[in-house]
Amino acid sequence: MSLKVQMVFGTRPEAIKMAPLARVLKHWPGVELFVCSTGQHREMLRQVLAAFELGVDEDLDLMTQGQTLNGLAQQLLLRLDASYARVQPDIVLVHGDTTTSFVAALAAFHRQIAIGHVEAGLRTGNLRAPWPEEANRTLTGVLADLHFAPTDKARDNLLREGRAPADIEVTGNTVIDALLWMRDHLRSSGWQPAADSPLAALAAEQRLVLITGHRRENFGQGFEQICQALAELAGRYPEVQFVYPVHLNPQVQGPVRGLLGGLANVHLVAPQGYPHFVWLMDRAYLILTDSGGVQEEAPALGKPLLVLREVTERPSVLEGGTVRLVGTDPARIVAQTARLLDDAEAYRAMNRVFSPYGDGHASEKIAQRLLRWAATAKTE
Ligand code: UD1
Ligand code: UDP
Repeated sequence: MSLKVQMVFGTRPEAIKMAPLARVLKHWPGVELFVCSTGQHREMLRQVLAAFELGVDEDLDLMTQGQTLNGLAQQLLLRLDASYARVQPDIVLVHGDTTTSFVAALAAFHRQIAIGHVEAGLRTGNLRAPWPEEANRTLTGVLADLHFAPTDKARDNLLREGRAPADIEVTGNTVIDALLWMRDHLRSSGWQPAADSPLAALAAEQRLVLITGHRRENFGQGFEQICQALAELAGRYPEVQFVYPVHLNPQVQGPVRGLLGGLANVHLVAPQGYPHFVWLMDRAYLILTDSGGVQEEAPALGKPLLVLREVTERPSVLEGGTVRLVGTDPARIVAQTARLLDDAEAYRAMNRVFSPYGDGHASEKIAQRLLRWAATAKTE
């Protein structure tokens, strides 16, 4: 008996979190894996595929500059339908909460193909924050047959929404598999950024604040406020290096480069390949982000984290005391960052490893559960 699994992803975070699972499934007895990239992202996705040496069997190459949600969704629906018709998988695996994730699930549902949802059950309870991700993951959960939840809390969210206990497996999040693998690889190989990389110029003795931000609900005023706070901090702490790999979305590039370009200690760099970014997180004194994945990675590396959002779908990270929600109010961002830069005691309290999202073995647990599912599904 062989289980034909079609894995679908399209953006940077999906690929980072599916890469360890693809590695495991490729060699798992009884599994035939077909990897499909929708190409919702282009350059940022290629960086991930290169970092994990992950080959794809099909690349739909769908990204267009400044794509709209509906424009992308309609392309995805048509192209994935044709892909499923050709590949004829027993199950489609999707990840998380992007437009790719939800539409890949919908297209599979329309063809009556089983769906496994990796990183299932994260919720804020607010459909507009993060937008549109909260809707994407909730709708994917409605369609999925198997739910791979990172934590007990995520499982409880699914149970509250009526999913059957037997269809939910708590596995941890595969992002921790990816992170630990990459960190160990960097440490054991003595990896350093190349001499011509902007990262090589960051003096080891200077404190480094790492920033990322790209959420749609922060577009406009939210981004302006975040940039205003960063400019103020950069002026107040000239000896601190602020490193901001700027997401390629034109809605992010515009305000960030416009408002922060030209400040001597603010380094606006291109999106970093995963090894570079893990190196940066490991090297950082503290991290500011509105990213989903970085909320799990930073505490797992023991880095204090300020989250530039009003709500989080990852409440477990708040329990360790190493992560704080600060939103986008500039005065609050400045005050919370200054506290960590000025007060050694406050910093020490947040500077420790806390990893409620996994132990680095989520992918194996998912593979085992898939095979158990296949044994019952194929005999029914
Ligand atoms: C998408 C996801 C978001 C996820 C984020 C991860 C949706 C609705 N949003 O948001 O959940 O957190 O990815 O980064 O699925 N671009 C490039 N090159 C790239 C990638 C993007 O030029 O490699 C530019 C293009 O102009 C593209 C735009 O960014 O049209 C927006 O990309 P899109 O995937 O639609 O949205 P993201 O904001 O990246
Ligand atoms: N990341 C990266 N390079 C960067 C910024 C982030 O490789 O320049 C990684 C980061 O470590 C995390 C993932 O990208 O694993 C998060 O992606 P993103 O913030 O784009 O999306 P989200 O997690 O918010 O959906």
